[in-house]
Amino acid sequence: MCGIVGFVGNKKAAPVLLGGLERLEYRGYDSAGITVINNNKFETNKTVKRISALKEATENGEAICGKIGIGHTRWATHGAPCEKNAHPHLGFKGRFMVVHNGIIENYLELKNELEAEGVAFASDTDTEVIAHILEKHYTGDVFAAISKTVSRLEGSFALGILCVEQPEILYAVRNFSPLIIGLGEGENFIASDVTALVSHTKKVLYMEDKEIAVIKENSVDLFTASGIKIHRSPALVNWSVDAAEKGGYSHFMMKEIKEQPEVIAKTFEPRIKDDKVFFEGLKLTEEKLQSINRIIITACGSAYHTGVVAKYVFEELLRLPVEVDLASEFRYRNPIVDENTLVIIISQSGETADTLAALKEAKARGAHILSIVNVVGSSIAKASDDVIYTWAGPEIAVATTKAYSAQLIVLYLFGIYAAEKRSSADSKLLKTLLDEIRLLPQKISSVFEMEDTIKSLAENHYKMKNTFFIGRNIDYAAAMEGSLKLKEISYLNSEAYAAGELKHGTISLIEQGKIVIALSAYEGLQDKMMSNIKEVKARDAFVIATAIKGNTAIEKEADEVLYLPETHPLLLASVEVVPLQMFAYYVALFNGCDIDKPRNLAKSVTVE
Ligand code: F6R
Repeated sequence: MCGIVGFVGNKKAAPVLLGGLERLEYRGYDSAGITVINNNKFETNKTVKRISALKEATENGEAICGKIGIGHTRWATHGAPCEKNAHPHLGFKGRFMVVHNGIIENYLELKNELEAEGVAFASDTDTEVIAHILEKHYTGDVFAAISKTVSRLEGSFALGILCVEQPEILYAVRNFSPLIIGLGEGENFIASDVTALVSHTKKVLYMEDKEIAVIKENSVDLFTASGIKIHRSPALVNWSVDAAEKGGYSHFMMKEIKEQPEVIAKTFEPRIKDDKVFFEGLKLTEEKLQSINRIIITACGSAYHTGVVAKYVFEELLRLPVEVDLASEFRYRNPIVDENTLVIIISQSGETADTLAALKEAKARGAHILSIVNVVGSSIAKASDDVIYTWAGPEIAVATTKAYSAQLIVLYLFGIYAAEKRSSADSKLLKTLLDEIRLLPQKISSVFEMEDTIKSLAENHYKMKNTFFIGRNIDYAAAMEGSLKLKEISYLNSEAYAAGELKHGTISLIEQGKIVIALSAYEGLQDKMMSNIKEVKARDAFVIATAIKGNTAIEKEADEVLYLPETHPLLLASVEVVPLQMFAYYVALFNGCDIDKPRNLAKSVTVE
């Protein structure tokens, strides 16, 4: 998704802007640009290549003077990815320059109005209307022009705005698109997320919807759109610069896979005390928890897959009906939700448009909203009744790994917490689960010992086509994630199937040379999986299976077996997903794919 950076201070702006944009590259983009004000003139550089091309063209930005500027990475929505559509965009009088994240829903109406008044458009973007509307409403007061413009825009927008007549002020606006202000010493910043800021400052101000910020070298003032001053204390970000760097790995994805033991420990350790789970500040009272008669989990992509795991866990521990729905479907049906429904929203970024819309839909119907989010201060976190943060740190690779694992941990903990409060599960089972959760970091680390085996499996099969991941129960939930990981980063088609469903049609696709990844670590259903493996073997598929260490029966049927450390079956996805992540990584590597930034994908999907 698009990324914004902005800087005002007492040094060259361009190197800061380019460094910030580089850190936002992970969000996904197809063009980029920066503008600085230099000698009371705008100086703009754009590219349809990578940020490195802009750096090369400008000696890392050092060739551009000027101490105030804005920059942008664009992920095309309105208009093709090309230089004329890349941001920043200039107003028709040459006075305002704008970068924008989000979508202006009434842009056509505004464009028609402007064109009727003789304004010529230089791009196909919705953003350009903002620059022109600013010019139209400018009568000598920049703040007033911004305020009037905000009142005319419908949709989501985070804006960085420069006016050439005020070369010392950077303006910022937020409405349903994230924007953060970084507070430095004699310098201040704006950015779409904190990864772009952590190397400069850890002190941030989270902007709220419809706020306008007036940012100078030595001051930051926040106002409502109507000009009323707002006082807000800054927050401190606890992410380190290292977390946003590769630290010796070739790709963020592998670094993040390897961070999982540490990350999940950070997620659960502070929340388990005396064999009990605690969530600080949870508004979901014990009484409210008792009154819940169903749970709906809604999310997108991998976050949805963690919801699928949670369904098995919650149904076991809470004996409540649990529904898992894709947010993009949930929002467009007529869901049965009331004040006795607990709706759990899961999102790494906290900005996913469909997930946020599903949240609002559920809230409007009276449900209590508990969200599981990684990015502090994100839109989903703000809109929820309760938030449990995953504390996974910044996840830079587009394909999620550590955030997925941290989401699972929060879901397990919540299941245990709620089961204890509702007395719906045996306390011995809850204690066993907590003990097992504590062992997960070391068990996940032991999976890394299989890396060479996984790498050579990937090397032998990286040309595979139409792979099937099959499994039952939690193995099936893990299969969904394994399949998504493979396709999103290696561009190879794969499908996850409930193993028992294969024979109802899909088995006709199994033929010699097809790879079937049979997840068979859920021992309660291993016999059934054995039968499914036999079915695909009989059709000459090559089977890579998973099994729990010591359970060698599967060797009779499968061509290769990846042995997992034993854990409680309800926690199985946490260890089983790891070899699947590594397999996807190496298959993508052997295929020469851009692992951290797969084509067509964005880290934070803020459009429908
Ligand atoms: C896949 C992946 C996506 C996200 C999905 C939801 O690796 O990362 O499928 O899980 O776009 O994103 P969040 O969790 O930010 O709402």
